[in-house]
Amino acid sequence: MRSKNSHKENVALITQRHPRSAVAEAYRTLRTNLGFASVDHACRSILVTSPGPEHGKSTTAANLAIVLAQAGQKVLLADCDLRKPDIHRLFSLDNAAGLTNTLIQGRDPVELAHPGPVKNLTVLTSGPVPPNPAELLGSDRVRSLWPQLLERFDSVIIDTPPVLAVTDSVLLSRQIDGVILVVSAGVSRVEVIQQAKEQLAKASARIIGVVLNKVKIPSRDYHYYYDYHRDEEQEKIRF
Ligand SMILES: Nc1ncnc2c1ncn2[C@@H]1O[C@H](COP(=O)(O)OP(=O)(O)OP(=O)(O)O)[C@@H](O)[C@H]1O
Ligand SMILES: [Mg+2]
Repeated sequence: MRSKNSHKENVALITQRHPRSAVAEAYRTLRTNLGFASVDHACRSILVTSPGPEHGKSTTAANLAIVLAQAGQKVLLADCDLRKPDIHRLFSLDNAAGLTNTLIQGRDPVELAHPGPVKNLTVLTSGPVPPNPAELLGSDRVRSLWPQLLERFDSVIIDTPPVLAVTDSVLLSRQIDGVILVVSAGVSRVEVIQQAKEQLAKASARIIGVVLNKVKIPSRDYHYYYDYHRDEEQEKIRF
């Protein structure tokens, strides 16, 4: 169910709202690069995280899920940020029930999920925030959730909290094929990025890419990036 819209939320889903923009093109490049990263190792479940807060994890997860769905993949976007869930807000969805109802009450995640704004996209919001997110996300029930979902979807994209703030994303990274680390241009210090990478490496997570987010494109250069692609992308990509 959709709740009331706000302008800010819709602009964040730029790949849906402005598919011909330079930013949407950058998300499609990310999609292509993920295909290259998956040549030797199937990567159907992807966790999106960052060293610290507000680097753009939720925005990246949402737009990546949209561009994968636009390319014909059946995609589930799941909000595993049980501290500060945001996916329902970005998609203007009701969050009365979601992932936590699946984990605590054993309810079918697909029945609780919402159709996304583009074909092939399904969105599982967080559900009510629990008192013990790390315990819940490290449980056997979560571990068994991903194989079940991958029977029904081509890809599962997971939004999570920051690596250096809480253990949730590191716990989850062990269960997931690949991790995308989002870092904010001009904000993330190299040592902090390195620390986040080490935390993930300790858990044997597979970092498949780093997104440098919030890069400013000078307005005089914008026309080079805009509208330089085919109208429709026909091919279905798999990785
Ligand atoms: N590429 C971008 N360009 C400009 N603004 C952006 C970009 N990506 C994200 N933002 C903005 O930055 C803010 C934080 O983004 P977002 O909520 O995606 O980050 P987050 O890492 O998920 O944050 P949190 O740690 O709170 O979960 C939002 O206002 C979002 O609209
Ligand atoms: Mg977020």
